[in-house]
Amino acid sequence: MTVLVTGGAGYIGTHTLVELIESDHKVLVLDNFSNSSAKSLEKVTQITGQDISVVEGDVNDKACLTAIFSKHNIQAVIHFAGLKAVGESCEKPLKYYQNNVAGTLTLCEVMAQFNCKNFVFSSSATVYGDPATVPITESFPLSTTNPYGASKLMVENILRDLYQSDHEWNIAILRYFNPVGAHHSGLIGEDPNDIPNNLMPFITQVAVGKREFLSVFGDDYDTPDGSGVRDYIHVVDLAKGHLKALDKLTQNIGCVEYNLGTGSGISVLEMVNAFESVTGQKVPYQITNRRAGDIACCYAQTDFAESELNWKAEKTLTDMMADAWNWQSNNPNGYE
Ligand code: WQD
Repeated sequence: MTVLVTGGAGYIGTHTLVELIESDHKVLVLDNFSNSSAKSLEKVTQITGQDISVVEGDVNDKACLTAIFSKHNIQAVIHFAGLKAVGESCEKPLKYYQNNVAGTLTLCEVMAQFNCKNFVFSSSATVYGDPATVPITESFPLSTTNPYGASKLMVENILRDLYQSDHEWNIAILRYFNPVGAHHSGLIGEDPNDIPNNLMPFITQVAVGKREFLSVFGDDYDTPDGSGVRDYIHVVDLAKGHLKALDKLTQNIGCVEYNLGTGSGISVLEMVNAFESVTGQKVPYQITNRRAGDIACCYAQTDFAESELNWKAEKTLTDMMADAWNWQSNNPNGYE
């Protein structure tokens, strides 16, 4: 298939490009590089041996999208482009709704205009809010506590309405749990702007000496060791899940949601200990207050994705730690 990958220069986008190319798909990247570097695409070329066709542009730019679809026979879209910092979304909600919601509306309008109705959407476990129980299945109630999460849920609802209006659409909504790690080559990885919001890049930046210590946001949650529990999934497993979802679209699935996680919950302190034991690198930390908006525990029920997509996360916690460290230690300043 010829696949348009929006946000393809980003963390999950680049890892998915590698899997797409290695599965003989033709790819075209649309990225505005607001939260990524074009250098990441050079690294994808180094890994795959293939040059990457890329358009520098924004999903809100209808003329740009129209030009892309006029010139290329796009058969499917994997839509990563969007803003994803929870804290920033609280400070700048309009920016998040404009990028994440309005941008997706523009993209879907142009897709419909060119009769391209195969769509994989990058959603998030954040749409489950604070679950009453765990593990979380795709049928759990949906609620959000910040504009970033609300933007993801709004897009999900738009896509469900879109499918109800036109059953020619085939839409896979992928709810990511917590992506971590990097391609085993160490050539591509997570390269956050400024101070990392997420746990894993903060751990690796402490280990490489960019940060003095890790703040553990609370150890008084109702969890085995008091620190927050999440479902961390290797980014390569996540990328492979996108390939399976893309294949599934050819079976006229309609509009379907899938949890992409491992089904295991791991605490912050367990992540620190695992990183130290796998890499031999110390990660000094201090227990601080809880972070506003955080929940105690979140991990996936993965049966549906495993059976429907014939996909299961295979990489281990050791792989996640070793690959994250391999990327960070070889790229202390990310994509320079
Ligand atoms: C994980 C755990 C923190 C940083 C968010 C979004 C989700 C997705 C991933 C985009 C929590 C703790 C973290 C730190 C810490 N985003 N932590 N010190 O909050 O589960 O999910 O990011 O796609 O949609 O909601 O991920 O990595 O920020 O936090 O103690 O410096 O690590 O409290 O328990 P989160 P996270």
